[in-house]
This record gives sequence, structure tokens and C-alpha cells, in this order.
Amino acid sequence: MKKICLVLIVLLAASSFVFGKGQQGGGGGATAPSAGSGTLIGIAMPETHVRRWGKDGASLKAFAEAKGYRAEVAFGDADQAQQNRQIEGFLTQGAKLLVVGNINDGVNSVIAQAASDEVAVIAYDRLIMESADYDYYITFDNFKVGQFQGQGIEQGLNLASATAESPKYITLFAGSPTDNNSKFFFDGAMNILNPYIEKGVLKVIGPYPKTSADNDNFQRIATENWQAPLAKTRMENLLSNDARDVVLDAVLAPNDTLARAIIEACLADAKYVGGKLPVVTGQDAEFDSALSIKNGQQYMTVFKDTTKLAEAAIILADQILKNQTPNIPGASLASGSLTSIGDTGKKVVKTYLLEPVIVTKSNLSVPINAGFYPDDEAAKLR
Ligand code: BGC
Repeated sequence: MKKICLVLIVLLAASSFVFGKGQQGGGGGATAPSAGSGTLIGIAMPETHVRRWGKDGASLKAFAEAKGYRAEVAFGDADQAQQNRQIEGFLTQGAKLLVVGNINDGVNSVIAQAASDEVAVIAYDRLIMESADYDYYITFDNFKVGQFQGQGIEQGLNLASATAESPKYITLFAGSPTDNNSKFFFDGAMNILNPYIEKGVLKVIGPYPKTSADNDNFQRIATENWQAPLAKTRMENLLSNDARDVVLDAVLAPNDTLARAIIEACLADAKYVGGKLPVVTGQDAEFDSALSIKNGQQYMTVFKDTTKLAEAAIILADQILKNQTPNIPGASLASGSLTSIGDTGKKVVKTYLLEPVIVTKSNLSVPINAGFYPDDEAAKLR
């Protein structure tokens, strides 16, 4: 009996070595390290209609390969069923770790599958909600991203000197209701703007959720899957209905793709053509928006150095696969009140945060000097 047990133990140990099921992952459990030399990392990005993700995917792959991993990237086209098939494909090919920027909670079944295969998962940029089947999340401080958007409006409208007799008018947009980040962006922005609204110096045209917790109103201002045409249509409707009798001073837009769609709608309205556009916010420092800021149309953006995010995610992946305690230069482990950023509703995952930077016309040089744009684009922004 003893002999049979010994043989079994040896066989199990061997299979764990050959098939590399020994990583710390899913629900935890640390065993034999397996890293580098051709180990597959599966990279699942949510979409390509927002430009950053193409670059995130390419950077993640390049950093993984530089560390000796094999890496494959797939884009989900904002379709969770499609992304799930891509993730299942990575698992079938024997991936040992997944980096996932998900689309919605429908991803949870494949994350559970990864956990049962003992494949580690890093939630990338977007927290995977309502899952207890993974351990790590890496992102930017997204509440701060929202606060920067609020501060952009505060500064652009000089709200500190605004009066209730002559209030400023704003309309509010949020990102996809299926993306957990959207709530952080919105709540950060409203953290800055609500005091002015309460004083009566800033008036909201259209729905006014004070925070994302007002789910009914939040859904009214949200933009399913971050689709620019939806934001454009909503802006056109606002301009010809709720905002018909006022001149808007600002629009809270959650990212650059939607900001430009909103500006397009304004530019088709006689009130704003050739005149003063509202202060429109954004994030991602997309080239088209940086150019728009340079030309005095979009007011601000938030620079999130996604090359640094990708690099940090692969450092984390490498340390997980080697069973090392993560220690990532340029990213800090969320602690204290920030720990709740990693609360999926089922578990609090370890969260690593990078710092965003507010960008207006006066410091467009920040993303340019960080090498965020290819040379031909950088030249157009100088
Ligand atoms: C990201 C943003 C991006 C948006 C739409 C969010 O989760 O944090 O950078 O603009 O998704 O893709």
C-alpha cells in the first residue's frame, strides 16, 4: 500500500511539473513555480473601438515575450460571449496565467474555469465583479481620474468665483454601466462638482445622479459599452430638448472617445458652431483628443501611461508564476481605505495602483515626453 501511495505521489508531482498546474492562482494554493521558457500567458482585451486597448494588448505581449513567455492576445469586440470563447481557447492551449480586461460579469464562468484549472488570473484595468475565483487586480487610481475630470471643469469654468445669480450649466455622461470603472470615474468627478451644485452655482441639465449609487439616474447618463454613437445621439437629444433654452458651459465626459462624439454633436448645433464650446472632459490622452486640446476644442484629458500599466502587469504575472511575493516598481499595493477598490462583492483581491496625470493645453508635453505617441503623432502635437 505504502509503495502504491509513493508511486501515486511521484506521478502526481510529475504531472504537475509537465502540465504546469502548480501555480499560485485561482483560489490560491502555492506549489511548484513554472515561468519563462515558453510558458503561455493569455491576454484578453475587451475591445478595439477605444484605441488604447490595441496598444495595451501589444505592450502586454511585448513585455511578456521579453521575459521569455509565449503570449497571445485576443480582443473581445465588446462581446462577452466572444471574449469567453477566446479565454477558453487560452485554457485549452495550456495557458498558465491570464491577463483579462473584461466586458461584463458574464466573464465569471470562464474565470471559474481558470480557477479550477489552477490558472492564475490578473484583472487588468477593470475589476472582475462578483467573483471569488481570482486574486489580483492592477489598475490606475480611477477615483482620482474622476476627480481630475471634476477639477478640469472647476478650473475651466472658474467655479470658485461663480454665483447663483449667474450659474454655469453642465450636463453629465458616464461610461458603460457594465464596467466597474465607470462608477469610480463618475463618483470622483461628482466628489468635486457636488459642492458647487449644492451652492446653486452649477446647474445640471438632464438627469442628475448625485453619485453612481442613484442607479436609476446613473443608468440614464451611462453609455453602454462605451459606444461613441450612443453618446453622440444622447447629446443631440439633450441639445434639442433639455438643453434647448440654455447654453451649456460644460459636459462631464468619461473618456476621450465619448468626448469627441459629444463635441461633434455640439458642433452641429447652431448655438455652438463657430462659438464657444462647453468645457468637455476626457481621459486616455488619445492622439485625436490631444490634438483637439491643442486646437482649443476638448478641454482636458487624463493621461494614464498604459505602457507602464502593461509593464507592471507582466512584472506581477512573472512574480505570481515564480511564486514570489509581488513587488512592482511604479505600482503600489492598495491599503487602508483604498483596499475596497479590490472588493468584487465576493472577495477582496490584492490591488495594485498606478497614478494618473491631469492634462490640459498647458502640459500636453507630459504624455508626449513620456513617449506615449509615435514620432509622427508627437510632431503634430508639438
Ligand atoms: C478604461 C478607460 C477606457 C474605457 C473604455 C475603461 O475601463 O479604464 O481607459 O477609456 O474603459 O474602453
